[in-house]
Amino acid sequence: MKMGKEELMKKLEEKIRNCQKCPLGTLRTNAVPGAGSYDAKVMFVGEAPGYWEDQKGLPFVGRAGKLLDELLAEIGLSRDEVYITNIVKCRPPENRDPTEEEIKACSPYLDRQIDIIRPKVIIPLGRYSMNYLLRKFGFEPEPISRIHGKTFEAHTLFGKIIIMPMYHPAAALYKPPLREELRKDFQKLKSLLENI
Ligand code: URA
Repeated sequence: MKMGKEELMKKLEEKIRNCQKCPLGTLRTNAVPGAGSYDAKVMFVGEAPGYWEDQKGLPFVGRAGKLLDELLAEIGLSRDEVYITNIVKCRPPENRDPTEEEIKACSPYLDRQIDIIRPKVIIPLGRYSMNYLLRKFGFEPEPISRIHGKTFEAHTLFGKIIIMPMYHPAAALYKPPLREELRKDFQKLKSLLENI
């Protein structure tokens, strides 16, 4: 019998929790597969878990996560209506940037999450997930300052996916002008969702 979404996602999450495909597997406390609805229309993709995410095994539960919750609430969404994950599922030491090798080892999990959930909109948060996702769907990445809030229409076997890159909430925490841009981009996301 064909497995349903829930079963496929649970199996995948289990695989991620036990993954040893790169050295981060030996350094983490918990891998962070992702959280939210398996039927979500919108998927948010951050960079990698930080200290609190690694402790709890859940994405965006620190200060950047609080801002993300606020931004979601401003457009009438809650965490259980969307799916939130990262391009790299284990915490890099001292929260350093993920390496190309780590992204290469880990990104097949994100590919699989997209295939199972089949979101209509993907929001890369920050340049690492933006670069990966734009290239994956055949677009040439540009600086995030130029293309945040813009939409890229990708065509997949299961239909159209709109990709709208945004600044990473952690960057916006310390830079009020970026926070304003992020707020505006969330309003664009709200309009987009009203029309799909
Ligand atoms: N930053 C990220 O990119 N992801 C998290 O889960 C938390 C902070």
